[in-house]
Amino acid sequence: MTDAVAIVTGASSGIGLYTALGLARAGRRVVMVGRNRERTEGAWRFVAERAGVPPPEIALADFASLAAVRGLAETLLSAHQRIDLLVNNAGLISPQRRNSADGFELTIAVNHLAPFLLTNLLLGRIRESAPARIVTVASQAHKGARLDPATMVRPREWTPLSAYGRSKLCNILFTRALMRRLGGSGVVASCLHPGVIATRIGDTAGGLAGLGWRLAKPFLTRPEAGAATSLFLATVADPAPFAGAYVIGRAVAEPDFAARDEALAEALWQESARLVRL
Ligand SMILES: NC(=O)c1ccc[n+]([C@@H]2O[C@H](COP(=O)([O-])OP(=O)(O)OC[C@H]3O[C@@H](n4cnc5c(N)ncnc54)[C@H](OP(=O)(O)O)[C@@H]3O)[C@@H](O)[C@H]2O)c1
Repeated sequence: MTDAVAIVTGASSGIGLYTALGLARAGRRVVMVGRNRERTEGAWRFVAERAGVPPPEIALADFASLAAVRGLAETLLSAHQRIDLLVNNAGLISPQRRNSADGFELTIAVNHLAPFLLTNLLLGRIRESAPARIVTVASQAHKGARLDPATMVRPREWTPLSAYGRSKLCNILFTRALMRRLGGSGVVASCLHPGVIATRIGDTAGGLAGLGWRLAKPFLTRPEAGAATSLFLATVADPAPFAGAYVIGRAVAEPDFAARDEALAEALWQESARLVRL
């Protein structure tokens, strides 16, 4: 498997770090995508020390900027003649309402529009590398989320968790719409809920949610185990049963009604393509 290239976003921390480690141990050429150079280099050392050869590579991009995502795609396409696996893992819960560099609500920009754009920019190379896989880290936090693609980047009502839930609903709808486009290509797209994992994701939360997170964190699943479902989908011998699916543990799970709405998935795709200027 040493020629197989695996790109993992959000590899500087948490679930992404251990996904990168697991893939490196499985012999993949891993590209660890981070945003912060120091943290990403620290993560690189962590993986390189534990995984042997081939050593991973690093690429940097702040997903709060679509120009940065385009720059990342160019770097990856010029460095790699094949891309066998893309793990869309980077994500955040923003404690305050903020906008991305493009003027879009930050959570949807980083968690949905950035991986939507990155995947589409890499898709030609991924198709050429088939059989290949695209794994997107969604969440059970999509449950109860409301999505109107027409207003998603400037929502009228905003809380950290409503914005996060909406972005994770987008991850599931994106995977369905993507898989419809990939039919017969040999590329399998799936998404997953990793469990509730003791990473840095809730560390900046304020108020009661932040207090709850800090109290619960010592009892949550450790990040090393939090990568298990991403690694399962990345390496399972036959990914066909997981095509377009939402997976928890090692099984296909049924997401919320909204996440199964084909018309909504298509409307999201069209609006996202317009927003990122595909
Ligand atoms: N932890 C859970 O319980 C849980 C549950 C369900 C789903 N998830 C999902 O799992 C994924 C990984 O999260 P985690 O729990 O491992 O959290 P984490 O430890 O905070 O890691 C998040 C990763 O995303 C990166 N990231 C954040 N904002 C970014 C930006 N603007 N541009 C580029 N990269 C950015 C972070 O980079 P920095 O190191 O620079 O911050 C980090 O590498 C997310 O998609 C999250 O929604 C997590």
